[in-house]
Amino acid sequence: MLATPLDPLGTRPPADEPSRASPQVTAWWRTAVIYQVYPRSFADADGDGIGDLPGVTSRLDALRRLGVDALWLSPFYTSPQRDGGYDVADHCDVDPLFGTLADFDELLHQAHARGIRVIADIVPNHSSDRHPWFQEALTSTSGSAERARYLFRDGRGPDGSEPPNNWQSHFGGPAWTRVPAADGTPGQWYLHLFDTSQPDFDWSNAEVRAEFRRVLRFWLDRGIDGFRVDVASSLVKADGLPDVDPSLDEDLAPYTGQPGVHEIYRDWRSILDEYPGDRVLVAESWIKPLTRRADWVRPDEMHQAFNDLFDDWDAPTLRGIVENTLAAFSAVGAPSTWVASNHDTVRQATRLSLPRSDRPNGLGPRSTGVPAYDDTLPRARALAMLTLSLPGAAYLYQGEELGLPEVTDIPDAARQDPTFARTAGEQYGRDGCRVPLPWEADAPSYGFGPGDASWLPQPTIWARLARDRQQDVPGSTLTLYQDALVLRRSRSLAAGPLVWLAGHPPHVLAFRSGRTTVLVNMGSTPTPLPAGDVLLSSTDLDDRTLPSDTAVWMHS
Ligand code: GLC
Repeated sequence: MLATPLDPLGTRPPADEPSRASPQVTAWWRTAVIYQVYPRSFADADGDGIGDLPGVTSRLDALRRLGVDALWLSPFYTSPQRDGGYDVADHCDVDPLFGTLADFDELLHQAHARGIRVIADIVPNHSSDRHPWFQEALTSTSGSAERARYLFRDGRGPDGSEPPNNWQSHFGGPAWTRVPAADGTPGQWYLHLFDTSQPDFDWSNAEVRAEFRRVLRFWLDRGIDGFRVDVASSLVKADGLPDVDPSLDEDLAPYTGQPGVHEIYRDWRSILDEYPGDRVLVAESWIKPLTRRADWVRPDEMHQAFNDLFDDWDAPTLRGIVENTLAAFSAVGAPSTWVASNHDTVRQATRLSLPRSDRPNGLGPRSTGVPAYDDTLPRARALAMLTLSLPGAAYLYQGEELGLPEVTDIPDAARQDPTFARTAGEQYGRDGCRVPLPWEADAPSYGFGPGDASWLPQPTIWARLARDRQQDVPGSTLTLYQDALVLRRSRSLAAGPLVWLAGHPPHVLAFRSGRTTVLVNMGSTPTPLPAGDVLLSSTDLDDRTLPSDTAVWMHS
C-alpha cells in the first residue's frame, strides 16, 4: 500500500511553476468520459453506406442514455478519404460524404442541448495531396514559397534518384515520394510520414502556423469544445532532416518529440484560453517514457495526453502502468487518461486474449490464433470496469459498450486501410475495428443506415450484439457500461484518490478509489471477496468469490 495517496487530479501545482497554480480542480475534462465517434462507421442518415453527421445527431439520445460527457469526432473534413479522413483537403469545411457545415452546427447544438460536449480531431502534421496548397506546390518550382509550406527536398545520389533520407512511412515503405519537374523529368521528393497522399507540412513556415491559428478559431467560433491533436509529437522535424539511427528507439527519431513542438501548443493554448467554457486540447502522443509525454500537458500547453492502451492482462504490469501514469501526469498538474481502444487498434474484446508478443496490426482471414468471441468478452468487460474506475478521464471507442469484437473476415478486396496495400497485404491494418455499428438486429445494415449499404461488410454476430438487443437487458455489455457510468458519477470514482490495497493475491489488482473498492482478477483461479456490498461486477457472481477475468466495484 502506498504511504501517501497519489495526486490523481494533478491538483498540486508543479514545483517549478508556483505562479501558474490554478488547479481548476473541478474542470469537466479532468474526470470526463469521452466517447470517440468514428463518423464513417457510426450511423448513416443518407443511405450511401458511409456514416455522416446527421447520422450522429440522430443517435445522440443513445449516447446521452449511455451517460458520456463528451464526444470526440474523428475527422469529417473535406477529404479524398485515402486515410479515413486523416488526409484533409480543407480543414474548414465538411466533406459532402458527411454532410454540410449546417449539419455540423446542428450536431453541436443538439449535443449541447443534451449536456454533451464535442471535441473535433485536428490534423496538423500533414494535409491531403488534394489540399490546394499541395496542388500549388506541385506546379511550382524548387525553392518556391508554395513548396516551402511542405517538406520538398532534392534526392540523394548523383541524379537525385535516392530519397533525401532513410525515413520510413508509418504505413510501410519510404516516407518520400518523388514528383516530376515542370519539364516532366524526375524532380524533387516530398516527405510523408504516413500515406503518399498525406504530405507533411513544414512547421518552421510562418504561413503554416498562421493557417492553423485560423483553423482553430474557425471551429472555436462555431462553439467546438476542443481538439484532439493528431500525431501531436511529430510536427517539428530536426534541422537538416538527418537519417534515423536504426539502433535507437523510435521515440528518439528526428521526427518525434523535437523541443520546438511545445512552442506551437503554447501558442494554441493561448488561443483556446481566449474563449469561454473550458475548451481543451488533447494530445495524441505515444512518446515514451511517460515522464516525457507529460511535457505535452504542462500547465500552459495541452490539457490531456492519451495514455498507452491497456494491453497487458497481468496485474503487476498494470499496477506499474497505473502508478507510473498517475505519478508522471500529476507531477505537471494534469489528469491521467485511460483508454482501452480506438480506431487504430484491434478491439479490446479480441486483443486482450491474443498473446502479447505477436499482436499484429490488424487481423484477417489468414490470421491464426484468433480467440473465440465468448472466451474473450469477460476480459474486455473487466477491463472496461477498470478503465472507468481509475482517477482521471476515460476514453471509450464507439462499439466497445456493445462488446464488439474485431471483425476478422473482411475480404481482401473490401479492405480500405492504406496499410494493407502499402505492406502488400502483410499487415491487415485497421479496418476490422472500423466496421459500421449495429443498432437494430433486424433492420437492414443492422440499423447503421436506412438500407443495406455499409462501406465495410458487417459480420453476422452484429445481430446478436446490436444495441436494441442489449438496451435494458440485465447482464448485457451495454447495461454494464451504463451502470458503470452512473456509479462512476454518483460515487465520484474518477476523483480518486487511489490507494492500493494489500492482502490480495498477486494476480488481483486491488485498490480503493474514494469510497469504492475495485478488484480485478487477472489470474486463472478464483479468489475470495472481502466483506462488503458489491455494487457492480463484470460477470455474474455465484457466491463470495471473484472469478477469473472479472472486476467488481464494492462499497468500502
Ligand atoms: C493518427 C490517427 C490515424 C491516422 C494517422 C495519420 O495516428 O489516429 O488514424 O492514420 O494519425 O493522420
